[in-house]
Amino acid sequence: MTAGATIPDPIGVLLEAHDVVVCVGSGGVGKTTTSATLALEAARRGRRACVLTIDPARRLADAMGLDSAAARGSRPVQVEGPWSGELWTVMLDTRVTFAELIETYAPNPEQARRILDNRFFRNIADALSGTHEYMAMEKLHELHADDRFDLVIVDTPPTTNALEFLDAPNRITSFLDHRLYRILVTPSNTLARAMNVAAQTVLRSISRIVGASVVDDVIEFFANFDGMEEGFRARAVSVRTLLASERTTFVLVTIPRRDVAQEATTFVGDLRAAGVDVAALIVNRVHPNFSPRPLDELRARLGPLSDGPLAPFVTALLDATTIAGTEMDHLAGLTGALPTAAVRLVPFLDADVHDLAGLERLRRHLITG
Ligand SMILES: Nc1ncnc2c1ncn2[C@@H]1O[C@H](COP(=O)(O)OP(=O)(O)O)[C@@H](O)[C@H]1O
Ligand SMILES: [Mg+2]
Repeated sequence: MTAGATIPDPIGVLLEAHDVVVCVGSGGVGKTTTSATLALEAARRGRRACVLTIDPARRLADAMGLDSAAARGSRPVQVEGPWSGELWTVMLDTRVTFAELIETYAPNPEQARRILDNRFFRNIADALSGTHEYMAMEKLHELHADDRFDLVIVDTPPTTNALEFLDAPNRITSFLDHRLYRILVTPSNTLARAMNVAAQTVLRSISRIVGASVVDDVIEFFANFDGMEEGFRARAVSVRTLLASERTTFVLVTIPRRDVAQEATTFVGDLRAAGVDVAALIVNRVHPNFSPRPLDELRARLGPLSDGPLAPFVTALLDATTIAGTEMDHLAGLTGALPTAAVRLVPFLDADVHDLAGLERLRRHLITG
């Protein structure tokens, strides 16, 4: 559990030494709160930090200015406070980000309008699997290139697989290379000629199920992508390079529950297979351990007191020690899989973290000294 503890303030070192910090982990463990806390710490260290949040709890979003019109439009907003650097927040809105991409990169405004008015785009595009991850990646690309920030902290979408985000650039490039895409982007008047019999049969079957107009919408949508795919490909390649580079580091957030810690251990293996090392493990919502002694010894020593007036306290202390011990057992496999990572335990606070004061409390636990 003390891996990395010899380096002073390892989390602070990570925040100073990188341009991008990616927070990964299962949903509900405190990933959004932790990302915001890391950005706060970076701002205190003089960095101009921007945290890209995915699904902030309502009250935290309000406290960080994310209820403003700018934030609702996916624009970064600055949070004022007593730090030497800057703290910025931006909320990922998949639909707005997608629309802005099209407006920015379409060869002309009419083509952008045709895509944005397309029924397929309006009804289906943001429900497609992977769109969240893909838009998070595009937003990261945009924020990283933005001169106002020198550190971007990314709160990844709540998927069960850490690789979905990492894989988004590969998926878009392989999609653009896919034969089906090539067929779809062929202008519709030459479509029939260009398509082979098999592809036509597939499209006919799809039409029968979802309706010919849906297929037409899809074809029109992709046909209008003409002239934009190189940009999509170039950005995907550039984010892939950024994520794999020394400028980026990965922080894994978890809680000391058996199933979640096991899922996190799987993440670690998957990330490692993809060439990514987790630099820090943040274990959130840990119950305090009041006793430095092992449970058995504690039980033996306190035994004589358990019938007297102190009985309720003895029970409470033994219960707390049992919980703390069980939590550490749950984490053993995970910390064993991360022998070189910095490990930080953050306690289960007595209240939700819904404002800057709450983030500040978390921050003090996250950072030594
Ligand atoms: N250490 C903590 N102690 C108490 N409450 C916490 C702690 N960390 C997070 N929370 C609360 O847990 C809830 C979920 O946190 P959130 O960061 O939104 O999780 P995630 O992004 O992983 O889904 C929020 O209400 C948050 O205030
Ligand atoms: Mg979240």
